[in-house]
Amino acid sequence: MLIINIKELFGVREKPHFLKGKAMSELPSLKNAYLQIEGETIVDYGEMKNIHPALRKIDPSVIDATGRFVMPAWCDSHTHIVYAGSRESEFVDKIKGLTYEEIAQRGGGILNSAKRLNDTSEGELFRQSWKRLQEVRSLGTGAIEIKSGYGLTVEGELKMLRVIKKLKAQSDLLIKSTFLAHTYPLEFRTEHQAYIRLITHELLPIIEREKLADYIDVFCENGFFSVAETQQILEAGKRFGLKAKIHANQLSNSGGVQVAVKNDAVSADHLECLGDAEIACLKNSNTIPTLLPTAAFFLRLPYQPARKMIDAGLGVTLATDYNPGSSPSGNMPFLVALSCIQLRMTPEEAINAATLNGACAMELDPSVGSITRGKIANLIITKSMPSLAFLPYSFGNNLIEKVIIKGVTTQP
Ligand code: NIG
Ligand code: FE
Repeated sequence: MLIINIKELFGVREKPHFLKGKAMSELPSLKNAYLQIEGETIVDYGEMKNIHPALRKIDPSVIDATGRFVMPAWCDSHTHIVYAGSRESEFVDKIKGLTYEEIAQRGGGILNSAKRLNDTSEGELFRQSWKRLQEVRSLGTGAIEIKSGYGLTVEGELKMLRVIKKLKAQSDLLIKSTFLAHTYPLEFRTEHQAYIRLITHELLPIIEREKLADYIDVFCENGFFSVAETQQILEAGKRFGLKAKIHANQLSNSGGVQVAVKNDAVSADHLECLGDAEIACLKNSNTIPTLLPTAAFFLRLPYQPARKMIDAGLGVTLATDYNPGSSPSGNMPFLVALSCIQLRMTPEEAINAATLNGACAMELDPSVGSITRGKIANLIITKSMPSLAFLPYSFGNNLIEKVIIKGVTTQP
């Protein structure tokens, strides 16, 4: 496949690596460019004036991108798209004044989704999740991480992880799977150690045996898993070969960032409640800060201090957190717009955070996240528009014309 007359090809990098601080504002590009794909791989790109004459002849596999931009497909490094049903009645309760914590206290929230999940067959759960995967694919997502955490029983968690495994096998998207210790089920509210034992002695051995997860995640928060409990679960995860990712500092300054860094977590995610100590802690680590501003938007929480973090030299990732309770949307273009508008990230910073840095947070950067020879051809072709900043500027409008996944075009 050949794409010609590209108005501007964005995210062109010879040696892609995680972007921090000032480097986040650079989105290298080629104007009036072409891009050549063989099979599922990017093999060449350059300026139209340098295109090989043999490539110039128009054949049916040529896409003329006159007036359009081409960029890497989104890399969404934090989602919970495997869930059953939806929770719009809690959404209405929140409008009427209840808080996220109050809803959780009443047996709503995660427990509500867990009940639905355990009442849903594996086949039906796969069907609902597949639909969400196709939906985010049409919005330009080419790589995605998916978590368990709505089962809260051995069978329920395994059901979720087996659905993720099946999604991996059947979808052309790159998928990473994460076991999430999300909350205590009601019957273990006062028996925390008994539930942790269930995770460490019953679930993790099966997860390892059936190769059901790439990462282990814990919701470290007041009323959920304490720092000490998080530490205990991560240590067990390590013994079963799982690297850490943490739900950290969403509702309070809970120590989640520190426990993530201490365990050399791949990423610390959410970060609505972040002070100078946490920023300093992240700066001295390899843990990638992942911001989930659509969850802050939906729950009316303060936004993540992205500006302060980037200005302090940190690199950040943006992800949708697509889940039924705090972000029932996996719309990456909206996330990028929201991050520009409310977090004051520049369009270049937001796009880097949602592509290359997102790939790094899934350890998929050798394969996706930039326009690089040898990487998988996961690409977005935009509609005709005046500049790249027009994409977040016209928030809520669909400016994606085509999505190419593994070298194959689909028209949303
Ligand atoms: O990432 N913070 C914890 N978990 C999810 C939301 C869970 C839910 O409400 O269903 C999140 O925001
Ligand atoms: Fe989450």
